Amino acid sequence: MSLPVTAKVPFGGDYNPEQWPEPVWDQDYQLFDLARIDLVTLGVFDWALTQPAPDVCDFTLLDRIVARATAEGRRICLATGTGAHPAWLARAHPEVTRTDFEGRRHGFGQRHNSCPSSPVFRRLSAELAQRVARRYAANPSIVAWHVGNEYGGACYCPQCAAGFRDWLRRGYGTLEALNAAWYTTFWSHTFTDWDQIEPPSALTEHWRGPDHTAFPGITLDYRRFMSDAMLANYLHEKAAIREASPSVPVTTNFMGMYRPIDYHRWAPHLDFASWDNYPPDDSSPSWMALTHDLMRGLKDGQPFWLMEQTPSHTACRDVNPLKRPGVLRLWSWQAVAHGADAVLFFQLRASRGASEKYHGAVIGHSGRSDTRVFREVAQLGAEFDRLGAATLGARTPARVALLFDWDSWWALEISDGPSRLVRYQQMVLAYHRALWDAGVDIDVVAVTADLSRYDVVVAPALHMVKGDLPQRLAEVAERGGSVLTTFLSGRVDENDNAFLMDVPGPLGRLMGVRVDEWDARAPGFVNPVLLRADADRVEVAARLLFELVIPEGAEVLGTYQDDFYAGTPAVTRNAFGAGDGWYVGAGLDQEGVSWVVRRVLDRHGLAGPYADVPDLESAVRVTPGGARLRFLLNHRAEPVEVAACGGGVDLLSGDRIEGGQAVRLGPREVLVVRADA
Ligand code: GLA
Ligand code: ZN
Repeated sequence: MSLPVTAKVPFGGDYNPEQWPEPVWDQDYQLFDLARIDLVTLGVFDWALTQPAPDVCDFTLLDRIVARATAEGRRICLATGTGAHPAWLARAHPEVTRTDFEGRRHGFGQRHNSCPSSPVFRRLSAELAQRVARRYAANPSIVAWHVGNEYGGACYCPQCAAGFRDWLRRGYGTLEALNAAWYTTFWSHTFTDWDQIEPPSALTEHWRGPDHTAFPGITLDYRRFMSDAMLANYLHEKAAIREASPSVPVTTNFMGMYRPIDYHRWAPHLDFASWDNYPPDDSSPSWMALTHDLMRGLKDGQPFWLMEQTPSHTACRDVNPLKRPGVLRLWSWQAVAHGADAVLFFQLRASRGASEKYHGAVIGHSGRSDTRVFREVAQLGAEFDRLGAATLGARTPARVALLFDWDSWWALEISDGPSRLVRYQQMVLAYHRALWDAGVDIDVVAVTADLSRYDVVVAPALHMVKGDLPQRLAEVAERGGSVLTTFLSGRVDENDNAFLMDVPGPLGRLMGVRVDEWDARAPGFVNPVLLRADADRVEVAARLLFELVIPEGAEVLGTYQDDFYAGTPAVTRNAFGAGDGWYVGAGLDQEGVSWVVRRVLDRHGLAGPYADVPDLESAVRVTPGGARLRFLLNHRAEPVEVAACGGGVDLLSGDRIEGGQAVRLGPREVLVVRADA
């Protein structure tokens, strides 16, 4: 099963009419009509409403809400309502709440607040999901089921400790295997009984917080366990839904680059991926491009839903900048350009009270349609109406893959040494940014993905190397492709134990180098690297980590300029089979990263047509019927003029565009061209 079947890009979002009186609903729907809002996500936090006491089910209000949406002809994404448990549940079963990293058992409060290992939570959440599904499954307006909400966080309670031990027993079979994997001879940790094992927390293996652990192997396994425990919650609900509703797709909303949950382990269990896009600041197009690519990669390139984004601003941050005019539209189209088949907002109408009363909404507290935000939403709604099905199901024809690995992320950032300052997301972002600037389409994929379709595979900070990945990377190079990796790659196996060989471990043969030593320095320290290829020479800055690289067959493309290792290699390229392996041994600045990445791309003729136009993003999708759609997004606040790289039809204006014709994109303007066949 895959995406919900729709005739156009669903447009709408989270709608919580249970928060306001029914007469307001009339106004809501009038405004939805004006904005062409055709999908509402209902009931995300309705548990206390639909089950106000252990033995009481009351669907009166949800029935009315669903009936109204149906009568108004909207599509519905219906939630199970288990994103927050009700107060009576926490009172009746105190063990349903979470215990935090410091060991404090929480009382009732907030949301996303259930212990994932709690049998009571598992039973009651699945029962609720089943009741909701049974009640509404026959309603054809329901196009998707939304389980829980933004799974995340962690719990360290005794139930989780027991669950962890079971998980370990299943995974390792014997204590000998577990002791070997966790390297417990160190610091007298040999476990002689499963019951001796504790969750790694501030009270046990950790100091200075969740990233400082005496036993990374234990902490790593706890993160895997937590991710699996929450996945089990999701699966219980999904199974309950399936009994009543065999053919409506099920999803849960992800959070993009969210560290605690390994979305690659979850993805096979979602019928389609969906995610909530709240970029860290208001100037994040490359961050969003990476995250969209990651979310699209979860299900082998299948389109995803943009489940939430704010039309204007968030509320949860210290400062909550307003999206400038045009940004709502630009960022929505960016999602579509990267594979979104739905564009939804949080939220359709603003809450009056509680912590999100100042969160942006399509409709504000005064219920007006003559606001800038509403007008922009309505303009976009009209565009998606005109667009119809033109983009639905379209795939990204990427020849470049970037590997993203939660295990490497975790292992790198819980490691004592070489450096706490090297951050996985920053590394991935820098390499993705270089590719994105070059205008290439990129699949961001798991290390287990099929790599046979790519010409270039980029693996920044691939700290952990698992399974047959080294062979599969070697095959990419053997058949003529390029593989690029960086410092802090090929360091540890799946248990976080170092390889008993030269760094970069099993990647060494492909890279044609070995790393002898490394030097980690404070952020202010710069060792320049001179990059050289043919006549091209450029000196860039390198920071944070400097590996001392000894070529074993690789040619040198960049050398350190300072210190006792001045003149030694920092960047290399190794001919391998019909292709090559590229190794970047230091934290090059963005200019340096881009220099290397461009050289790799140029070997395969992969740079996009607008590679040298800054902040003009271009992305391609190919429809199921074979039409090639080129999206051009001007992220600048100034206009830009370029030559069309081929003839086609502008899908938003209907105008014809000839190849080579000058095309002007205004500030934050978007162009979608369907190329001539
Ligand atoms: C998340 C949640 C929503 C809401 C928004 C606010 O994405 O899923 O319920 O809290 O954040 O930005
Ligand atoms: Zn727990």
